[in-house]
Amino acid sequence: MLRREISTTVFMLCIILHGTEGQCSSKSTCSECVQHTGCAWCKQRGFLSPGQPDHRRCDTAEGLRRRNCSAITDPTPNAQRIMDKGLGSSLENVVQLRPQKIHLKLRVGVPQTFEVAFKRAEGYPIDLYFLMDLSFSMRDDLENVKKLGYKVMSALRNVTHAARIGFGAFVEKRKMPYVNTKADKLAEPCHQHKCQPSFSFQHVLKLTDNMEDFETEVSKQYISTNEDLPESGFDGVMQVAVCEKEIGWGNVTRILVYLSDDLFHMAGDGRLAGIVTPNDGKCHLNRMGFYEKGELHDYPSIAHLSETLTKNHIKIIFAITKKVLESYQALSEVIPQSVVGILESDSSNVVQLISDAYNDLVSKLILEHHKAPAGLDITYSSTCSDGTYSHNQRRGECRNVGFDQQINFTVTVSSSVCFSHTKSFIIKPQGLNEELSMTVETICDCDCSDTEQKSPDCHGNGTYTCGICSCDEGYVGQMCECEKQQNADSILSMDALCSPINSTNMCSGHGSCLCGRCICHGQYRGQYCQCDDTSCNHHKNLICGGNGRCNCGTCECHPNYEGSACECPTTTDECQTGNGSICSNHGHCECNQCVCHPGFKGKHCTVSLYPCLQYGACVRCRLSNVLENRTCDKACTSTELIHSPDARTFSCHEEMVFFNVESNSETVRIFYRENHNLFQSAMFGTLVIVCSGVGGVVILGTTMILTYLLLLNIYYQIVP
Ligand SMILES: *[C@@H]1O[C@H](CO)[C@@H](O)[C@H](O)[C@H]1NC(C)=O
Ligand SMILES: *[C@@H]1O[C@H](CO)[C@@H](O)[C@H](O)[C@H]1NC(C)=O
Ligand SMILES: *[C@@H]1O[C@H](CO)[C@@H](O)[C@H](O)[C@H]1NC(C)=O
Repeated sequence: MLRREISTTVFMLCIILHGTEGQCSSKSTCSECVQHTGCAWCKQRGFLSPGQPDHRRCDTAEGLRRRNCSAITDPTPNAQRIMDKGLGSSLENVVQLRPQKIHLKLRVGVPQTFEVAFKRAEGYPIDLYFLMDLSFSMRDDLENVKKLGYKVMSALRNVTHAARIGFGAFVEKRKMPYVNTKADKLAEPCHQHKCQPSFSFQHVLKLTDNMEDFETEVSKQYISTNEDLPESGFDGVMQVAVCEKEIGWGNVTRILVYLSDDLFHMAGDGRLAGIVTPNDGKCHLNRMGFYEKGELHDYPSIAHLSETLTKNHIKIIFAITKKVLESYQALSEVIPQSVVGILESDSSNVVQLISDAYNDLVSKLILEHHKAPAGLDITYSSTCSDGTYSHNQRRGECRNVGFDQQINFTVTVSSSVCFSHTKSFIIKPQGLNEELSMTVETICDCDCSDTEQKSPDCHGNGTYTCGICSCDEGYVGQMCECEKQQNADSILSMDALCSPINSTNMCSGHGSCLCGRCICHGQYRGQYCQCDDTSCNHHKNLICGGNGRCNCGTCECHPNYEGSACECPTTTDECQTGNGSICSNHGHCECNQCVCHPGFKGKHCTVSLYPCLQYGACVRCRLSNVLENRTCDKACTSTELIHSPDARTFSCHEEMVFFNVESNSETVRIFYRENHNLFQSAMFGTLVIVCSGVGGVVILGTTMILTYLLLLNIYYQIVP
């Protein structure tokens, strides 16, 4: 857990660090910038410092915010549901796929996801078209198929409320060598049996819910014959698929049942009969329902057939006999929404086959896209109702999809290119006629509402847009400030403007000179690219100690910080000593630490290196100002004077007293005792001076003071 967080942090750090220097750095227009994953553009006027090239406007959004950009262009991709009808399975309103229309706005390289839900509606109507091989070997099958109508209907009643069936048949192109085209043979191809001439394909019965019609029409059918084994089934499939109106296909589940006991002709086989025109995939039925171009157009190719069936949402069931199973299985592999079932030799199991195949077809749902424009990458994650989940597939796929169970897909679309206009494609479930239509646009341009031609911001010589100038013909410079220089002399004089006076170092070696202006590389800026906002002093590994902003190599400290790397707080709380003084008056405060005057040390400069010398003044002051203690503050900061007549040894002496100094970081304590001899003679001297020079009144006052001093002296001697 921790490791993951660390690696995430490192990763994010890398993104931040690489933001400007990495991917975004070389993009010098807004459009180029936003075409790059993770890059945003600053279109704020005056955002750049002098010398900074336009591409410094392109950075990560986070990077721009840090640089105080107030107008960031960072378009967000989105998926907008334009049509979003809810899923519904009532007969009048069947909606199996949701949503139905989405508009995507993509940023290049940024994946966009959206949800697609599918719910198979129960009782969805079915159109079932029988396409039957009427070659001679199928004559017993025809008898069974004639009775099929009601049976199929009752079998399908379990899965649908409404079903219609239709009928068509194929034999073979009426051409040598497929069919014997001698006149007598054509007239009566099958000797004794009742038999009709060969034909490529005939549409017999339009889709109907009237079962009697089915039986009547199919009963009129006769078997035919041909010479070779493969049949013209593909011609029939193609016509059934494309003749939507003639066949009568509805907007329902469309199923084509292909009944045959033999192989099929494919594109190219027509050459045997001299037919070289390829199949055109169009409907060519005449009034009788016959395929008119059977003898003129070649058979369709498998790919063509597969595409046409898919396009028309037709599922196909190949009901064939066992001997040709392998060929049809191979065919089924390449035709989406197709299954193969084995027909008994007389087609007696056809109803069961159809109902099994139908269930097989509808229980598998495949969601895929069609006609997606190049450059678009589309992937699917499927959450199926049977609990299976698949991620990041080329198409969405669920098996065992029951009725009324919602299955969910997450579709992810990303574009690697910019589209010049809105593109569209569709996403649809195989074999269903519902689809999700998609429109996609790429956000590759900026919405620069500030566009202004002949803008003053571009010296009137260019178009201002999204913060930058694009210059008119003949002008250059970041702000189109200069005309294109024609001769060498003027180019030289322009170049001179890019070097500081008395220097030949153009743009300080960190930029190039364009029309007398420096365009700086990398982090450099300034008129001569002399500034590097990453070159300031560091403190504790942080630029400007983390307490300031680097401006052109100099730290600009936040309030309350100072120093070349903003390493010093400007507060002095650490230097304060008792009664408001700083560093015990024996030093000054720097960087919130005491720097002591010479002769002192200690956190608050309380420790004296020469105590006798330094505290003599204090002792002197205190003892001669006993009455007015306060006036000694300056000499005696945080000192305490302690009379200590019993102490034996004193290392200092001052005229009248001996004393010792003891200090800790906070206070200084001075222990003293009087030097008696000196003390008394001093008083006597004072008396003489006073008596000789001043009158009686003065003598009286002085006598009182002396008496007091004497008493004090006595007091000091009595009281320890
Ligand atoms: C951004 O603005 C803030 C507040 O106005 C200021 O403190 C900071 O220095 C600015 N940062 C830059 C990179 O200009
Ligand atoms: C699909 O989503 C719907 C609604 O979000 C939910 O009720 C349903 O269970 C989901 N289906 C599956 C198979 O997860
Ligand atoms: C340039 O050089 C001249 C002579 O060497 C000197 O007088 C002048 O002050 C210099 N100018 C600058 C801006 O350094």
